[in-house]
Amino acid sequence: MRYSIAGLALLAGLTVAVDPVEVRGQDFVNSVSGDRFVVIGVDYQPGGQGAISATNDRDVLSDPEACTRDAALMQSLGVNTIRSYNVDPTLNHDECMSIFNGVGIYVILDVNTPLYGQHIDRSNPGSTYTRDYMEHVFTVIEAFKGYPNLLGFFGGNEIINDLETADDNPPYMRAVQRDMKDYIASRADRPIPVGYSAADVREFTEDTYHYLACDNGDSSASDFFGLNSYSWCGSESSFETAEYDVLVEMFSNASIPVFFSEYGCNDPSPRVFEEVEALYSPQMTVMSGGLVYEWSQEDNNYGLVNISSDGSARLRSDYNSLMEQYSRINITLLEASNDTATSITAPRCSSDLIEADDFSDEFDIPSRPSGVDALISSGISSAPTGSLVSVTATAVALPVYGVDGASMSNLAITVTSEANRPVGTASRTSSRTSSRSGSASGSSTASGASATQSGAAHRMSGAVALALGAAALAL
Ligand SMILES: *[C@@H]1O[C@H](CO)[C@@H](O)[C@H](O)[C@H]1NC(C)=O
Ligand SMILES: *[C@@H]1O[C@H](CO)[C@@H](O)[C@H](O)[C@H]1NC(C)=O
Ligand SMILES: *[C@@H]1O[C@H](CO)[C@@H](O)[C@H](O)[C@H]1NC(C)=O
Ligand SMILES: *[C@@H]1O[C@H](CO)[C@@H](O)[C@H](O)[C@H]1NC(C)=O
Repeated sequence: MRYSIAGLALLAGLTVAVDPVEVRGQDFVNSVSGDRFVVIGVDYQPGGQGAISATNDRDVLSDPEACTRDAALMQSLGVNTIRSYNVDPTLNHDECMSIFNGVGIYVILDVNTPLYGQHIDRSNPGSTYTRDYMEHVFTVIEAFKGYPNLLGFFGGNEIINDLETADDNPPYMRAVQRDMKDYIASRADRPIPVGYSAADVREFTEDTYHYLACDNGDSSASDFFGLNSYSWCGSESSFETAEYDVLVEMFSNASIPVFFSEYGCNDPSPRVFEEVEALYSPQMTVMSGGLVYEWSQEDNNYGLVNISSDGSARLRSDYNSLMEQYSRINITLLEASNDTATSITAPRCSSDLIEADDFSDEFDIPSRPSGVDALISSGISSAPTGSLVSVTATAVALPVYGVDGASMSNLAITVTSEANRPVGTASRTSSRTSSRSGSASGSSTASGASATQSGAAHRMSGAVALALGAAALAL
């Protein structure tokens, strides 16, 4: 086991840190051990888009009490990654990021928000790719680049949602990725991956992948490719009817990691998540796992957990069903490194890669708006930069209830430096322990620590569940 000492945390005591994950060919890889890293994740945006606005001072990673509640439940569930869709980079995320780090959970973050000037408008990408927009994106990078459990950034989510939007937008998507990667190369101390989250619409899924992954002789390629895929619906579905076999074929030569950035069809409901077995099976190792949509119950009815305005939470049966499915995952299979997969390189960009007539085959990427070069070379000096802090409050202060309504008392997080794993799944090497086999992972010392931030619970009250489909988050 490896302990890292992170910056100022020295003053507060030892801070454990997970190993950063990097991209090698088709796989995510633990940069220290070399083991493969496969995403076992959930999408995390309690409150939906309403969780962030120009007039409030919260986002989903700024409330330590809520983060402790959710991290404890996710640690039991077996999650190793969350994705959050929008954050306010001016807020302090040190506690929440340290809490998720402490339970072995990585974070993939969208850099965009629904707010004006903080996303590319798919109906007019040229006029919204501006210096001010890139300053917003770079400020998000500054806020999160210091956390070792930051797995990567999504530069865009479902910008292309039909063939009409597949003409003008692709070069701008690569332009934003290029600027983000150049900023990271200039201002961060490790190569944080940058990718895209795509609508899985089979008439252009493959073109989107090829357009973004190919080598254009510059830094504009995606480092990973997320697919929002809802094709497996209940027990009637199978590997074939959900066309997972088509995806395996489509991505067999992928040169970057491909995973589901959203999955979990909710019709029928409650969900039984039989697609989990397929996704993590030997048949589908070409994919790097996926993120279940989504953690909290909102109006669109995809939640694993029902979070009330007072900050209390009640598990839904979907949570238990997912845990049950996760417990059967073969971690040995997933963590095995694969030299063939990690050494695949991208083909050169060429119009030959693009099939659909209406999909852009333009690889002449727009140049940076004026002023962006200076931001990249000098950094955003006024931007707050986060770093890990010591996690002292491990007990969950907010009330949590099981599916049957019974109170789950004594809920707490167990601090570890290893990626979290589902219950009952053994790790690959004998020197390691599953994070919840308890004392062997060591450092859960603060069992008596009292919870802090009593005001935090009230911040959930603004979590008005807007009726947002997955597609409505498409920014
Ligand atoms: C994958 O690459 C191999 C070797 O280059 C090639 O023969 C095969 O057709 C490719 N498969 C796909 C689905 O592109
Ligand atoms: C879920 O939360 C809503 C809103 O707080 C509440 O009306 C509903 O009763 C809750 N459902 C369960 C099963 O706890
Ligand atoms: C898990 O995967 C490993 C590696 O492929 C294999 O040897 C082992 O038999 C699998 N275990 C189970 C229970 O299927
Ligand atoms: C290694 O990766 C390659 C490329 O994805 C794949 O064809 C092969 O089946 C993988 N090997 C194992 C043992 O999973």
